[in-house]
Amino acid sequence: MARRGLFFSFEGIDGSGKSTQARRLAEALRPLWTAGVVLTREPGGSPGAEEIRALLVTGDPGRWSATTELLLFNAARRDHVERTILPAVHAGQIVVSDRFADSTRVYQGVAHPGLRRLADAIHAEAIGIEPDLTFVIDTDPEAALTRGLARRSGEDRFEDRGLAFQKELRAAFRALVEEFPRRCVLIDGNRSVEAVAGDVLARARARL
Ligand code: ADP
Ligand code: TYD
Repeated sequence: MARRGLFFSFEGIDGSGKSTQARRLAEALRPLWTAGVVLTREPGGSPGAEEIRALLVTGDPGRWSATTELLLFNAARRDHVERTILPAVHAGQIVVSDRFADSTRVYQGVAHPGLRRLADAIHAEAIGIEPDLTFVIDTDPEAALTRGLARRSGEDRFEDRGLAFQKELRAAFRALVEEFPRRCVLIDGNRSVEAVAGDVLARARARL
């Protein structure tokens, strides 16, 4: 029988601290998991998916229709799953991903509620996997916006959508935890990096 690793994802609004926490968890797990730990992200996480990421995060905000954008996120995800996530999990490794399909449910769901059905159908047919455990980093949108604005990366197609949108996203992430209570855990992100990381590691260790 093939060895089975684990798949953890991090979700949250922009600037919530999820990339910091994904990195911290991967570092903390490395000495504990000899088969290896892979830190990855979406959109992206494989060479092909990173190329699709560039199409998504740069350029004019109106560059893609909502439906085209949904397909691009899923095209990137399919490649990420095929080339990075499943090979690692089948090799017994732990995959830690900064965002996965919940970001589509929440971001595309909030921006275009009518697309949620199509998003679920594409996910079921073309992606088909869920993380073993998803950390939803729940951070006050005002604080997250200030943190996020401290960075300037050039990947700004999705930036500057304002506080009201961030508040809706936060509510949608909280609703997601209620929708998938066995898989998702809500983590209070309004604390120091160390306090959040300690909480996350304790919950991850309980699954090893
Ligand atoms: P995200 O991936 O959710 O957009 P990041 O992890 O990149 O967020 O964090 C955004 C910014 O906030 C970074 O400059 C990071 O150093 C800082 N940051 C992350 N976590 C915290 C925290 N708990 N308290 C204060 N600042 C933080
Ligand atoms: P990301 O690089 O994680 O941005 P940040 O570090 O600011 O959180 O993701 C880029 C943007 O893409 C972000 O605004 C969230 C959005 N996104 C979606 O709208 N749908 C998706 O399926 C994914 C994975 C990301």
